[in-house]
Amino acid sequence: MSIPPVLTLRGIRKAYPGVVALDGVDLTLQAGEVHVLLGENGAGKSTLMKVISGAVARDAGEILLDGAPVELRGPRHAQSLGLGIIYQEFNLIPHLSAGENIFLGREPRRAAGVIDQATLLDRAQQLLNNLGVAIDARTAVSRLSVAQQQMVEVAKALSLNARVLIMDEPTSALTEQEIRELFAAIERLKARGVALVYISHRMEELFAIGDRVTVLRDGRHVGTRLIRDTSLPELVRLMVGRDLKEQFPKQAAGAGDEALRVEGLSRAGLLHDVSFTLRRGEVVGIAGLMGSGRTELARAIFGADRLDAGKIFVRGHEQVIASPRAAIALGLGFLTEDRKHQGLVLGLSVQENTCLPSVSVFSRFGVMQPAREASATAQRIADLRIKTPGPHQRVFNLSGGNQQKVVLGKWLTTDADILIFDEPTRGIDVGAKVEIYQLINQLAARGAAILMISSELPEILGMSDRILVMQAGRLAAEFSAADATQEKILAAALGRAGLSAA
Ligand SMILES: Nc1ncnc2c1ncn2[C@@H]1O[C@H](COP(=O)(O)OP(=O)(O)OP(=O)(O)O)[C@@H](O)[C@H]1O
Ligand SMILES: [Mg+2]
Repeated sequence: MSIPPVLTLRGIRKAYPGVVALDGVDLTLQAGEVHVLLGENGAGKSTLMKVISGAVARDAGEILLDGAPVELRGPRHAQSLGLGIIYQEFNLIPHLSAGENIFLGREPRRAAGVIDQATLLDRAQQLLNNLGVAIDARTAVSRLSVAQQQMVEVAKALSLNARVLIMDEPTSALTEQEIRELFAAIERLKARGVALVYISHRMEELFAIGDRVTVLRDGRHVGTRLIRDTSLPELVRLMVGRDLKEQFPKQAAGAGDEALRVEGLSRAGLLHDVSFTLRRGEVVGIAGLMGSGRTELARAIFGADRLDAGKIFVRGHEQVIASPRAAIALGLGFLTEDRKHQGLVLGLSVQENTCLPSVSVFSRFGVMQPAREASATAQRIADLRIKTPGPHQRVFNLSGGNQQKVVLGKWLTTDADILIFDEPTRGIDVGAKVEIYQLINQLAARGAAILMISSELPEILGMSDRILVMQAGRLAAEFSAADATQEKILAAALGRAGLSAA
């Protein structure tokens, strides 16, 4: 009588050395639903999705498509059955254009078998335009921002006409506007009867677009609910197995001596005359829309990009910071927003990454003593609750959020006392966010000065002593924690309020 679910998973099991990633998971996906998958970092969400997309072979369990058992022989096969996925880690080829990436392996060809570039670019441009994003299909992916690359992934998935479409943290790098566009695209896909799986650590999103939610914990299915029948506290309890204390455990450390002062920082087209002071013990939040110059500011201070004008004072002394290496030598640390490329050496272990004195691409010097390394790493694994079978696991094998924790842990391990964190909790689960905030408190309490760039306004409001808002490369406003509100910050970020109005 009833139509079988598009996809049914029964008793899916997958073990890796030292980790049972999936332990008998059941899941059904109905046509036209958005099924949210929730769970802490390392709970098994991505692994389950890789089973559906044919990228990971299960150890046990059944997969049924339209009620009939299927054996997925690999990603291509799954794709041909209409099972599509957008990975958490981008899967794009940097030197190819956006269009070539969208149609990779499925390029339109002329009779002679030659790739029909014109048609390819035409269709790709159409897809991108439909998404409402201003990306030229001819642009090499390496030249696109993280947000734009994500949109290329979305366009690629949309081009596949999938019956099941999995989005693994699709919004973690998107602007508000792009998120709205993505949600609109999701609504269109739903209307066409596509079953969507949506993974996100942004809890507010699931209430905005989800129909049902399944929670995984330690590789086990702990519950499936209709979104309209559940609540945030219930879901958090299912996820982390306990009630969550305060979400933003802010402790003001009290501002001390000047740690960092910048005057008139400028970089053609990106930064205009940016000046501010950061004191020891302070957490200064930097809000702003994507593209407002926040990351550019951080990179300029850290010596990763050249400045056209401006001065930087570190602990009261003017410094010319010509390279990240020089910045590190001065006690600066920078947690970059693009961890995959700048923050981690995926082939090395958790311990090796934790104890690398600086970001790999920036420098390669120095080795610590093994005993110190082991204890520092054990400390980080415990503090940040990094889910790993041990310190020697290769970072490549960790879940996305746990990789992130390793990068963060690395900066907590150095002696750096002027820290710039760019989106420190992106991709981090609700429970672990609190641990990270507590570590930020501890750093501030021991006199570190912290610049925290974040796109999550509740986090900016919840954890900052002062808030700077950037807009079009300028500092548009400054607020004390007491004065700031979401509305005021947004208005400034959108260019609707100047410093005078603040
Ligand atoms: N190739 C692999 N080799 C070894 N262990 C792995 C591998 N892939 C995943 N794991 C482990 O399986 C567990 C589940 O990982 P998974 O990536 O599915 O988590 P997740 O729920 O997606 O987490 P996140 O929210 O951080 O993305 C983790 O403990 C992870 O370290
Ligand atoms: Mg994941």
